[in-house]
Amino acid sequence: MMRIDFHAHILPRADHGCDSSVMSEKQLRLMKKAGTDAVVATSHFYPNHDSVESFLDRRDGAMEAMQRKLPLTDLPTVYPAAEVLVCIGMDKMPDLEKLTVAGTSVILLEMPFTYWHDDLLATVRGVSARGLTPVLAHIDRYDPAEVARLLSETDALAQVNAEAFGLFKNTKALRAYMREGRVVALGSDLHGDKPSDYKRFVKMQKKLGPLAEVVFARTAELLREAEPLTARQSQLV
Ligand SMILES: [Fe+2]
Repeated sequence: MMRIDFHAHILPRADHGCDSSVMSEKQLRLMKKAGTDAVVATSHFYPNHDSVESFLDRRDGAMEAMQRKLPLTDLPTVYPAAEVLVCIGMDKMPDLEKLTVAGTSVILLEMPFTYWHDDLLATVRGVSARGLTPVLAHIDRYDPAEVARLLSETDALAQVNAEAFGLFKNTKALRAYMREGRVVALGSDLHGDKPSDYKRFVKMQKKLGPLAEVVFARTAELLREAEPLTARQSQLV
């Protein structure tokens, strides 16, 4: 079984989650120690202050900096991606395909923390209609009734954050979405390099038991054709 962290901010200076190659290495070592085999590097993309081009320049620069500094061979496999904040009409945005996970059709979408207008749900449907596979980031962070509406009115898949499995949290609905196949990925949503922040990802897996393996198998399937950073590195040599 591949343990895949589908949501983490680990690319140096690509966003506020990681401020240097040194921090990036610490984050990857935390992951390695926790038994994580692969990580999807989901740097924030905010359509209101980024163009796809400027985002990719920054992110690819971050990946190059990381490759120069790190021997990536003994660390988890890294897949370049983005956490794309959804705005109404984004499904018509040119170059949206360039924000997908490592050359696949999978795109991690972050819904805003405000009321979800019908047009926003239509945008998510539009992303699917474009041939992409939207995965909604951290559905545990939103109002459960709104999440239920979103999942019934779109065919988007979903990702759950580790913090959802903290003490005294009600995880019944999330577990049901996992069993139904709607939740296809788990994530640490790591920002920074605090070991206690990453322990949550391990705790979630323990709490889920065999259900974690079921979800990881779906994540592996989504990433089947994905091109990891290390492969790009070997191509450069
Ligand atoms: Fe995030």
